[in-house]
Amino acid sequence: MATERFELELFGEGVERRFRKLRPDVLAMPWGTLDTAGISEQALVLARRQWTGAAFQEHRTAIACAATQRAMLECRAPVDLCAMMARFILDELVHVELCARMAMELGGGTEILHDPDHMILDGDPALPPLLRASEVVVRFFCVGEALSIPLLRGTWKAARHPLPRAVLGRIVKDEAAHGTFGFAFLDWALPSLSDDDRELLGRAADRGIRGVHKLWDGLKNNRNTAYLESGDALAWMHSDAYLALAEKSLETQVRAPLRKRGIPLSL
Ligand SMILES: [Fe+2]
Ligand SMILES: [Fe+2]
Repeated sequence: MATERFELELFGEGVERRFRKLRPDVLAMPWGTLDTAGISEQALVLARRQWTGAAFQEHRTAIACAATQRAMLECRAPVDLCAMMARFILDELVHVELCARMAMELGGGTEILHDPDHMILDGDPALPPLLRASEVVVRFFCVGEALSIPLLRGTWKAARHPLPRAVLGRIVKDEAAHGTFGFAFLDWALPSLSDDDRELLGRAADRGIRGVHKLWDGLKNNRNTAYLESGDALAWMHSDAYLALAEKSLETQVRAPLRKRGIPLSL
């Protein structure tokens, strides 16, 4: 396994100016206004780690969107649906930058080592194009992105300081479209898929849900109270509230809409 440090850069100059023009609200956010003076060192390190981890997750999501985009094009999904996915890739890149900048505002990013060859589980090339695309959409969108809407909204509501509020507000706005996309795709694809295909999609959803549970187990084991003393400036929901909302959202945002579409789940 080749591990590399997770570090990103901007090319700058005209390229960056064009990037800024696509999303002018990023520079308009109140950068440089976070006062970290009253926050303990321990809480600050934790916050830097959280935002760096968030940047890494957004980067992974950008890769998942790119993989989904390719699979959708290969199965000749509707052009407008494909165009939405093209925008999602840009959204995720903006989220990467926002989270990375938040870490910088708090004193800098923390170290993340990763294997760039194993960032996501790509679609299975042995499957026919439509089923291949549906499988990645179920894992990445019907499970991953659908679940992120209520969780991000909760975190956004918990934030008081204008900077994290602006950052999370931008992300929440974009994620609203990402979270419903998977089910729109399924509504187009399912009439062309068989019962066996639906079972395969159910197993894909199970795999996605198992991954989510693993992530939550990590959170449960690393419950931390350092945020409680740091107030709102760090903008992260306390783990207990987050986990309670996460369980509820998994049922309402993921399992229920999948079952409604005849996708059998065993988890
Ligand atoms: Fe995102
Ligand atoms: Fe997203």
